[in-house]
Amino acid sequence: MSANAIGRPLVRVDGRAKVTGAVRYAAEFNQKGQAYAVIVGATVGIGRITEIDSTAVSRMPGVIAVIDHLNAPRLAYREHRGAIDPSVGERLHVLQDDQVRFYGQPVALVVADTLDQAERAAAALRVTYAAGRPVVDPSDPKAQAVIPQAATRPGSRIQADKSRGDADGALARAAVKVDATYDLARENHNPMEPHATVAAWNGDRLTLWSKSQFVVNEQAEIAAIFGIAAENVQVICPFIGGAFGTSLRTWPHVSLAAIAARQAARPVKLVLTRKQMFLTTGHRPRSVQRVALGATADGKLTSLIHEGTGETSRYEQFIEALTSVSSFLYSCPNVRTRYRLLPLDTGTPIYMRAPGEASGVFALECAMDELSYALGIDPIELRRRNEPQIDEGENKPFSSRSLMKCYDLGAERFGWSRRDPRPRSMRDRRLLTGMGVASASYPAIHSPSSARVRLLANGIVEVEVAASDMGPGTYTSMTQVAADMLGLPVEQIHLALGRSDFPPAPPHGGSQTMASVGSAIRAACIAAQEQAARRALADRRSAVFGAPLDGVQWNEGRLRRRGDASPGERYRDIVASAGQPIEARASSQRDAEVARRYSMHAFGAVFAEVEVDPDLGTIRVRRAIGAYGAGRIVNPRLATSQCTGGMVGGIGMALMERTVLDPRDGRPVNAHLADYLVPVNLDVARLEAHFVDEQDPHVNPLGVKGLGEIALVGMAPAIANAVFHATGKRVRRLPIRIEDVLSP
Ligand code: MOS
Repeated sequence: MSANAIGRPLVRVDGRAKVTGAVRYAAEFNQKGQAYAVIVGATVGIGRITEIDSTAVSRMPGVIAVIDHLNAPRLAYREHRGAIDPSVGERLHVLQDDQVRFYGQPVALVVADTLDQAERAAAALRVTYAAGRPVVDPSDPKAQAVIPQAATRPGSRIQADKSRGDADGALARAAVKVDATYDLARENHNPMEPHATVAAWNGDRLTLWSKSQFVVNEQAEIAAIFGIAAENVQVICPFIGGAFGTSLRTWPHVSLAAIAARQAARPVKLVLTRKQMFLTTGHRPRSVQRVALGATADGKLTSLIHEGTGETSRYEQFIEALTSVSSFLYSCPNVRTRYRLLPLDTGTPIYMRAPGEASGVFALECAMDELSYALGIDPIELRRRNEPQIDEGENKPFSSRSLMKCYDLGAERFGWSRRDPRPRSMRDRRLLTGMGVASASYPAIHSPSSARVRLLANGIVEVEVAASDMGPGTYTSMTQVAADMLGLPVEQIHLALGRSDFPPAPPHGGSQTMASVGSAIRAACIAAQEQAARRALADRRSAVFGAPLDGVQWNEGRLRRRGDASPGERYRDIVASAGQPIEARASSQRDAEVARRYSMHAFGAVFAEVEVDPDLGTIRVRRAIGAYGAGRIVNPRLATSQCTGGMVGGIGMALMERTVLDPRDGRPVNAHLADYLVPVNLDVARLEAHFVDEQDPHVNPLGVKGLGEIALVGMAPAIANAVFHATGKRVRRLPIRIEDVLSP
């Protein structure tokens, strides 16, 4: 396979290494002489540490150090504008004082020769608290909503308040209206791979083998926390066993591993338990949203109000795009959105796959379904009648928008026409069945990225970039981009990712890696080609010697004079004759003018069929189809896998996932995979993803829009709408439970 690698359903280039155990994940980077650290978390929800008695524990077998706020080093915690979220400046200062801000906050750290010894000692450590009662439930009267500061900045994608026309007046006058409140549970990411860090100091230099979706940020963050130069911190993370956003930020366990390694004067490994994964590494915030829609009798929207509140911690304001989509998904003259935060005594949330959009679109798309019944109009037809010509929220055209094409394709593949619109009208023997549909949308982000390409004399091309691959197939798709640009077989491309000393990349999240890193690799390939061409043109032994730069061209990995049919020169020949590798580094970012002129988003339509047992209330998704307009598809096999994987996440969101906090102390009571339910194979059934042909010349040089997030958006509302169709019960709280369906 050579040129035109883009667009082919290549199998994962790292697939074999992964399934044979040849790749290494963070916890597998064992270092010689390493010790083990175990975190002791607060067992109260708020308060103050009054005593930590570590004397006895310090004498336990193998214990090297017991570190708490009294003996921990005072860390610099320099101001660091985290690239993840510039609004976050007050990150948890771990082991720096006696305050307990939330249940599970690290209050001590035990370091020992073996993991077993560290666990035993951690379990034996007695900590005494003066505890209060935390506010952890959004309905607690002591919880007071606040305006998210970062969402008041002009130009922010997330706006606390946004409006056009007079939405409240138009709602009051509307012929038909829907006004409903939706309540979505807190979720935890629960990737297979736990958070893990192996830390080793060599003098002032720190190496972290650490699970991270953003190694350059982890480097900058740890440097800021310890007050050392960024170039003295190296973060290495070649592979990630799933993350879904939980590894976008650098959480306290990373600093703790580094503190432990310094204190023990040995490399230290720190791996979180599954239970700890529910405490200090973020979560999808619980949200409560009101959506009110007003329409004319023939289904034209006249008013759209979307008010949403998401939980955050007391010490940081975490924001996400909860209400953003409502300003542009449909045509409507009167729109008002409002976004607020509810600070609670919990850890700070973090982006979780399709952050904001998945929750916000759930509310909007369920409300649209409710409106379709109020009007007696088919839900797809209702969306067709409100399809906008432009982004009415920003008052600019979409770079491309294929929502209606997605509905056409999806409806046809799904068999929407077979649906009897009446609720509770369709059955399969004794089971109620139902079909639901919802729109999906996610912004097409293209952030600044860079990449390095090195052409070697043996024909191998080394490509390096500090991006991560948490599982979508980044190694494969980026290899395809380089192979395509250089006209070489994919086997000749050797891509390396996940080191902070590689050229910087944006966070591996927000569906921006393909667009951002792919465009940077493309640019670096072009730069390498130009260098190679210049060398050949200046080389007397070359067949193209003396030709002008624009008089030669690359084709299938060979350089020829234009119009010349000779075999041409290969990269390796040019490198060999020059006697040294050709290395090029390049960057890519979105053109500011394009960004100003266009509204850029991917769109999709998701269809789900459920069956509901009328006696037991159990709900199963029988099948689902997502149709997406996401620009160019680099690898259809991986894209399908990415989308169906996101749909599985949507099943979890709709029917299973919910982190339950004990109101007395904020403890997550179901912090394990027996009680925190995620879909398993039996829950998943038949999922299909289809892509409409979409050429978008504006989004980025590759014409890609990204798929990671949109894959989850739309699935939960499609399921909830299908549950309504099956049962006649409108459930506005996620996850939908048996009792919701059984109750009269
Ligand atoms: Mo995803 S929440 O952007 O890792």
